[in-house]
Amino acid sequence: MSSPSASTGPPGGHPRAIQGGMGVAVSSWRLASAVARAGQLGVVSGTALDLVLARRLQDGDVDGSCRRAMAAFPVPEVADRVLERYFTAGGRAAGRPYLPQPRLALRQTRAMQELIVLGSFVEVWLARERHTGRVGINLLEKVQMATPAAVYGAMVAGVDVVLMGAGVPREIPRMLDRLAAQEPVRLPVHVTGAAVGEHGVDLDPVGLLGPLTVRRPDLLAIVSADVLAAYLARDEAIRPDGLVVEGPSAGGHNAPPRGRPVLDDLGQPVFGPRDAADVAKVAALGLPFWLAGSFGTPEALQAAQAAGACGVQVGSLFALSSDSGLAPSLRESLLAELRAGTLEVRTDPRASPTGFPFKVAQLAGTLSDERLSADRPRLCDLGYLRTPYVRPGGGVGYHCPSEPLLTHARKGGSVAEAAGRACLCNALAANVGLGQTRPDGYVEQPLVTLGTDLEGPLRLVRTYPGGWSAAEAVRWLLAGDAVPAPEGQRALGMNTHRTT
Ligand SMILES: Cc1cc2nc3c(=O)[nH]c(=O)nc-3n(C[C@H](O)[C@H](O)[C@H](O)COP(=O)(O)O)c2cc1C
Repeated sequence: MSSPSASTGPPGGHPRAIQGGMGVAVSSWRLASAVARAGQLGVVSGTALDLVLARRLQDGDVDGSCRRAMAAFPVPEVADRVLERYFTAGGRAAGRPYLPQPRLALRQTRAMQELIVLGSFVEVWLARERHTGRVGINLLEKVQMATPAAVYGAMVAGVDVVLMGAGVPREIPRMLDRLAAQEPVRLPVHVTGAAVGEHGVDLDPVGLLGPLTVRRPDLLAIVSADVLAAYLARDEAIRPDGLVVEGPSAGGHNAPPRGRPVLDDLGQPVFGPRDAADVAKVAALGLPFWLAGSFGTPEALQAAQAAGACGVQVGSLFALSSDSGLAPSLRESLLAELRAGTLEVRTDPRASPTGFPFKVAQLAGTLSDERLSADRPRLCDLGYLRTPYVRPGGGVGYHCPSEPLLTHARKGGSVAEAAGRACLCNALAANVGLGQTRPDGYVEQPLVTLGTDLEGPLRLVRTYPGGWSAAEAVRWLLAGDAVPAPEGQRALGMNTHRTT
């Protein structure tokens, strides 16, 4: 196994900045590529890349990038089948819904695994195209059923690092070893009502694509607590190659506050000192680590390094950059609010079907507006956040608290538990311009997430009132306010050549 210092960063050291994986497709291949070219770790979001590929193809793959990457896939018949099913020359007719696609399940058809593998492959391949910087893929442990195929597709494209949060990625080191050795894997999946280890998702890499030469990427586990970091570090079989320690101000999902839940006047969960990891304890574990959540300024980067970290993982600053996958109209609205000093981000304890707190930018025209969210017909057709459970009569069913209330109740779910849940799958697809249009004309609306600490974006918008690129954000982070270096310059002399 490669040592992390040899493979997660440029020669002579680790990256000082990791651009956070932001789903769905906010951390697009373009963003990851721009950050990797600037000498830091560019990361694509690995969530729902099957949907992203299928929908980009149905929109006509205007710049040809998907088809360029698919032409490089080592098993052309797989790429041909996906192209045949989803590619629509010139794009869908106005108002026409995207095709339905296979929903994640424990038993996976070949078509489903091929689409997931190819979706991951395309995004990572494009992020790595025409430069020698390093690229990672971010996956959510909670979206367990996609993990083996998503990871394998990224490995076929030569991904350098897998970053995994929203759960305890204890099975992943072993899975990476086995996939690199071309051995079948079974990833245990938690099924409510079943014994631990009773169910899992199988992937046979050789059965699916034939024998291929793939390299084992490093694993960075994203954790919120030093206790979890210590647990993972203790045992070689589950030990990651490094850690990202993320605090509760980070964008996206957060770990729930410890202890009895307390809400503030706005209904937000209150985080306290117990929710901050003890960085000294993490440093004592001896694994390379990065700090995330309110670490998107030059001073915070320096403070992180002073505390023993290799650097920082930064999300919001890059989500707002012109290279991110956010729909341009949303980014413009967010920048306008930033310039006016009115951008507000709240921690919503109910929005996410996962039950984890989820950060929501308060933005007109998005589902943060209660009226828009009340107007959305409840339905669950994508199902990335569905969880399996044992049906009363036997067999495995799937449920999601944001599905229609009656359906949820029929499956034994509680209506109280389902109230206030947003359909993140459809909303996050809408955030990146891939929202569904329903046969009755309803168009899925966005719901934007950002971190609550906007100091970095507020400072950058003063320097770049019209917006900034990812390379400009990297330069500012690494060198501080004193940076005015031209676009395209290599970041701070960091060598961007691959070491492996
Ligand atoms: C738009 C957005 C989406 C995110 N989605 C994910 C995700 O899918 N997986 C993940 O591990 N972290 C996700 N995050 C967290 C970031 O990767 C990063 O750790 C975090 O934003 C760092 O905090 P900062 O925003 O204060 O820089 C997301 C953050 C943002 C802003």
